[in-house]
Amino acid sequence: MAKYYLTTPIYYPNDIPHIGHAYTTLVADVLARWKKLKGDDVFFLTGTDDHGKKIAKAAEEKGMSPQEFTDKLIPEFKKAWEKLNIKYDRFIRTTDKDHEKVVKEVLQKMYDKGDIYKSAYEGYYCVGCEAYYTEKDLEEGCCPIHKKKVEIMKEESYFFKLSEYQDKLLKLYEENPSFISPEHRKQEIVNRVKEGLKDLSISRNSFRWGVELPFDKEHITYVWIDALFNYYSATRKKGKEKYWPADVNIIGKDILWFHTVYWPAFLMSAGLKIPNIVFAHGWWTLDKEKVSKSRGKVINVEELIGIAGVDSIRYFLLREIPFGDDGDFSEEAVIERNNNELANELGNLVNRCLGMVDKYFKGKYKKGKSDKELFSKLNLDAITKNMDSFKFNVALGEIWKFIAEVNKYINDKKPWEDEKGREDTLYNVLDAIRVISILVSSFMPETSEKINKQLGVKTGSLKEVKMGILKDGKIKKDEILFKKIENA
Ligand code: MSP
Repeated sequence: MAKYYLTTPIYYPNDIPHIGHAYTTLVADVLARWKKLKGDDVFFLTGTDDHGKKIAKAAEEKGMSPQEFTDKLIPEFKKAWEKLNIKYDRFIRTTDKDHEKVVKEVLQKMYDKGDIYKSAYEGYYCVGCEAYYTEKDLEEGCCPIHKKKVEIMKEESYFFKLSEYQDKLLKLYEENPSFISPEHRKQEIVNRVKEGLKDLSISRNSFRWGVELPFDKEHITYVWIDALFNYYSATRKKGKEKYWPADVNIIGKDILWFHTVYWPAFLMSAGLKIPNIVFAHGWWTLDKEKVSKSRGKVINVEELIGIAGVDSIRYFLLREIPFGDDGDFSEEAVIERNNNELANELGNLVNRCLGMVDKYFKGKYKKGKSDKELFSKLNLDAITKNMDSFKFNVALGEIWKFIAEVNKYINDKKPWEDEKGREDTLYNVLDAIRVISILVSSFMPETSEKINKQLGVKTGSLKEVKMGILKDGKIKKDEILFKKIENA
């Protein structure tokens, strides 16, 4: 059994999760479910980035200790993932004791190797990014990402000799062409690394909310080192060692630099293997505007589900844009896909077919002769290839092509007229619906279960995506799968 280890970024628990957090976690869930369907031994990690100045500041504003503050927000993340039917294997927090221990261990290794030295730092700091900027990076004195004024910070600090990793990193990118994915995001990183790398400040002593450096208790670890190593510390638990290194770190494009420059350099320094792929997705805008909490332009998980249900939003987010590109989110677009692709095309197919089995055969069906022609319309190879290369929207497109073929098959065969062929036609449609329910199960687990319950079968694995598996049985028609939503 092949192992498959995938991760999401660990989120800053300074507010409830919104569409951006939900998107990455959802994609990871779909991928994890897909790999399980294939029979892989999957480990899916998500969690929160509890330390750092940003959290310390947010807690202070609420008059709480950072521990209290994060303890209060973590359940919000867990609840949101449960509502979205996201099944992770571990929810890690950087305040977890086992994680803190690993951070200290690796820092000691990097220190012993001679990659860490003490000096002083003065620079512009953006708390939002938890990162220093040079004057050249700033846009009118503001952080290029958060567009907020940066702080001038001066402190004694330990530094990591990042400058010594330039060649090693360039070699890594060259030898592992998909390490930085998708391809169109790669060149910018390569170019910046070619320009040269400065040593990186990796400790703070102006506040205490972090992991103490093992070799100097006056300092705490820079939040990004602490955070990145979560991917590793989760595999230091008994039985989990086999998962290292990660097959993919799924992230958003804004944190690609941290994951493709700092992260592999730290790992090289600590003598550890490097993840196979870091895949950066794009950003969602909301009705063509940037997601922004302060301007009220934000949509949280509850609201997302409220539009047309869990499976509908899971489907939409994966179908609407190629994974890796930016995209725009609007309620209308969700409703349109819900009403057309889900209610009309998939929902109707199931409803119509089961209705006829009820009407003509009292709900019973008999294993008939499989229609090779119908099943030849299913391109499983294309679906698998696209899923395995993160082209989820194309894979869904392929599944929907088959759904259209099955709908067409019913229209052409006219089982309502063709008394003689009726039973075989409906058998083939039911068998095709069974196959479809397996294929959509990673995207819409609840829908898949509902379909199978109505068919009276168990959800199968990818091995059962072939014709003729359905035996004699009885259907149990239930509520329609997707309700059409009136556009507000
Ligand atoms: N804590 C760091 C990650 C450390 S990983 C070792 C962090 N946290 S975050 O909470 O700010 O953001 C997490 C993720 O949300 C990022 O991958 C980011 O790209 C994603 N998104 C935030 N807003 C987004 C959109 N509007 N659209 C899509 N994803 C976006 O960064």
